[in-house]
Amino acid sequence: MKKVIIIGATSGIGRELAKLYAINNWLVGATGRRKELLQSLQNEWPDNILTECFDVTETENIESIKNLIQQLGGLDLLIYNSGYGELSETLEWEIDKATTQINVNGFVEIVNFTFNYFLVEGKGHIAAISSISAIRGNSFAPAYSASKAYMSTYMEGLYIKATKLKLPLYITDIQPGFVDTPMAKSPEKFWVSSAEKAAQQIYSAITNKKRKAYITKRWWLIAKLMKIVPMVIYKKIG
Ligand SMILES: NC(=O)c1ccc[n+]([C@@H]2O[C@H](COP(=O)([O-])OP(=O)(O)OC[C@H]3O[C@@H](n4cnc5c(N)ncnc54)[C@H](OP(=O)(O)O)[C@@H]3O)[C@@H](O)[C@H]2O)c1
Repeated sequence: MKKVIIIGATSGIGRELAKLYAINNWLVGATGRRKELLQSLQNEWPDNILTECFDVTETENIESIKNLIQQLGGLDLLIYNSGYGELSETLEWEIDKATTQINVNGFVEIVNFTFNYFLVEGKGHIAAISSISAIRGNSFAPAYSASKAYMSTYMEGLYIKATKLKLPLYITDIQPGFVDTPMAKSPEKFWVSSAEKAAQQIYSAITNKKRKAYITKRWWLIAKLMKIVPMVIYKKIG
């Protein structure tokens, strides 16, 4: 049985991913802060899902991951899905602080540990759910797009590192557009995917060991446009 840890599996995309891996007979280590939601996931899949309740902004990240790896009996894949974002019209420090703690500090601590764990094992796979927002800054939630750019750039660095090491160590950066969860807070939304469909496409991208994937697939076009649109135009929409 293959083993996956999903950081942030209580709701939305992460919960759908946990179910999908369980359906495909993986052993899943699901995490998050909301204990009752972890419990309900485990009740639904008692043979496939184990849980560990912790907040990625606290001090027990590494201890919790080590515990889960021990309970699972090893690890093949880690998915960093936990995320936070709020519109920050008046540039509120509390929003920017929480965004950075969850999307940057929690991410880098857990992914750094896992990469080094996989180095010792000689194989493994790390995926992170960044965002299409990683591509350009935006005025609605500056810390969110910046934090997702950090994730995406870090994952690219790990990809190059893994390639140089010539080990079967895979890195996947997932960049969703809009997905129908409370996290999708933009005033203007389009091409909104269900969490189920997003999870299916993420599962497939990870299975195919993609370096980068846009979710849904047609967001590839928006990514291309965002990269080339000049600032004189972008500043009217970003
Ligand atoms: N929805 C979209 O349109 C969209 C678009 C692009 C990217 N994304 C990214 O997709 C990922 C999943 O988001 P979602 O849309 O599925 O929203 P969601 O339902 O709100 O899921 C967020 C997950 O992050 C976990 N989380 C938040 N703060 C945490 C903390 N301090 N410690 C541990 N876990 C924490 C939550 O668990 P607990 O609350 O139980 O801790 C939850 O499981 C996020 O990284 C998000 O940025 C979403």
